[in-house]
Amino acid sequence: MAFTIAIDGPAAAGKGTISKAVAGHFGFAHLDTGLLYRAVGAKTLDGTDAIAAAQALTARDLEAENLRTPEVAQAASRVAVIGEVRAALVDFQRAFARRAGGAVLDGRDIGTVICPNAEAKLFVTASAEVRAERRYRELVGKGVSTSFETVLADVKERDARDRDRAEAPMVAAKDAVVIDTSALGIEEAVSTAIAAIETAR
Ligand code: C5P
Repeated sequence: MAFTIAIDGPAAAGKGTISKAVAGHFGFAHLDTGLLYRAVGAKTLDGTDAIAAAQALTARDLEAENLRTPEVAQAASRVAVIGEVRAALVDFQRAFARRAGGAVLDGRDIGTVICPNAEAKLFVTASAEVRAERRYRELVGKGVSTSFETVLADVKERDARDRDRAEAPMVAAKDAVVIDTSALGIEEAVSTAIAAIETAR
């Protein structure tokens, strides 16, 4: 039977880690929907029109190597304000959500727009400083040379663009369980998420 878990929240709040762990725990498939916007954003950096890129997107584009860079993240949040881009990506996400065997989708608008009837909804958040610190360490670990201030400014800029846009702004669904991971370790955050979903099952 299809069972959809929607996990939304801002960048580097722990959504990705929690989503993977939750999917593993329940044996569900996982879709990181940020990758769709990143793949479209990456194409615009090559000069392709955003709407055309979204309409022509294939699953293979999600495997491109460069999708995790800060430049692509910014490009993703710029294309994500365009209604036609979002519209072109809806069917793929909804089909994934209703697959037999269960699905976890993480993003910004899963519980509000893509899957308003999801069986379980979480909104995972943390302070901008904590999120920037995590992202900074991750980038430095990958050998990227940057500063904490740059990463913090980047996180805040993307938050504001995602929160203030007219189309599908980032907001917790009314029926989402909010988990603030600022003071939680990974294991605690994951077990809090699993416990919240168990009560919805
Ligand atoms: O989650 P991630 O940081 O990979 O997302 C990159 C960008 O894609 C976000 O900043 C946001 O602008 C956009 N996005 C979105 N809706 C989603 C997922 C991502 O608008 N469901």
